[in-house]
Amino acid sequence: MEAEQVFPMKGGVGNSSYAKNSSLQKMVISKVRATVEEAALEVYCNIFPDCMRIADLGCSSGPNSLAPTSYILDAIISQCSNQMIMKKKKPLTFQVFLNDLPGNDFNTVFQSLSTFYERLQNNGKGDKFDHPLCFVMAMPGSFYGRLFPNNFIHFFHSSYSLQWLSKVPKGLVSETGEAHNKDNIYVTKASPNVVVKAYFSQFQEDFTYFLRCRSEEIIIGGSMVLTILGSITSNDHKHVLEVVGRALNDMVSEGIIEEKCLASFNMPVYSPNAKELRKVVEEEGSFELHKLEKFKVTWDAGFNEEKGKINNSINVDDDDNIDKYNRGKYVSDYMRAILEPIMMKQFGEKIMDDLFERFTHTIIESMANENCHNINLVIYLIKNQG
Ligand SMILES: C[S@@+](CC[C@H](N)C(=O)[O-])C[C@H]1O[C@@H](n2cnc3c(N)ncnc32)[C@H](O)[C@@H]1O
Repeated sequence: MEAEQVFPMKGGVGNSSYAKNSSLQKMVISKVRATVEEAALEVYCNIFPDCMRIADLGCSSGPNSLAPTSYILDAIISQCSNQMIMKKKKPLTFQVFLNDLPGNDFNTVFQSLSTFYERLQNNGKGDKFDHPLCFVMAMPGSFYGRLFPNNFIHFFHSSYSLQWLSKVPKGLVSETGEAHNKDNIYVTKASPNVVVKAYFSQFQEDFTYFLRCRSEEIIIGGSMVLTILGSITSNDHKHVLEVVGRALNDMVSEGIIEEKCLASFNMPVYSPNAKELRKVVEEEGSFELHKLEKFKVTWDAGFNEEKGKINNSINVDDDDNIDKYNRGKYVSDYMRAILEPIMMKQFGEKIMDDLFERFTHTIIESMANENCHNINLVIYLIKNQG
């Protein structure tokens, strides 16, 4: 991983933290729950391990870090509670590895572990020796590299993390030093072909390496469910980063940001389409693509869940406008929890409030005029035998 090109989400539990601004991602995790449960149960019932080892890649920090693990454990526990393992008085045992970049706020996750363990205890039946055992630990490091020994993990899960590349793609600057993507921070309809190709090529390299690493680490019969923020085609849908780019461009025209500062900035993110994803999996060859599912969520899909927490003391006149503003602010707040660390490094801390207030307004405008949603691609991969 190139140093300091990818930043973890905003840590802590403050109002602007990822922990407090990730209800959209939580909704996505819950929509993929059935596939995750199906895949993990299949592995468990086929291998029947003494200790089921699970890894969540790009777990971040906050309520979402342990949510997929809870779903998996609940599914296995309820399936097995009446079966032989319980009758043999052998407690179900799990080892869970939460992975993210070393700068991730793992402390916040550890602080929520007592609630997680308590819930698990209440799931057990009979005396305390019957309770399922679960050992949760952190595995800091880039998933674009080896994280575990050979033949070690039974089930990998990852949600909304693999769209992050290992670095900004090469080839975004011409030989004469001119930025090819100078008014944008990501691939948009306006980006020249060289930019689209550079992004896909970086994704292809990174995702191939990701699959190679996981294929060494996974046990034969093991599987993975990966949810990726994708796209319909490489550059034709509105990506939320295009709207961030618009707010940054406004700040350049007003002289708040230097033109060259924006021209030299590109996000290390790529949202592949289903065809591209399938191509990389098939060419790499270690996994069978058992399922590929697609679903959409609107940018403000998690808004209703958050509604009660939003402060309405804003300067707009009627209920309709208040609702529109709050929806825009909801999207802007969760994007800020993701983007602030990387944006601050490039553009400085001083302009952050201004940038995200402008972003709120560009979001409101986009959502009023266009169809704004995230495309989610879910792949269920099974390790090929031999
Ligand atoms: C949008 S968050 C998703 C977090 C969580 N899975 C969820 O659904 O809410 C993406 C996470 O991926 C992590 N990430 C990005 N690149 C990574 C890498 N190369 N290795 C490990 N984690 C990475 C980020 O630090 C961040 O915590």
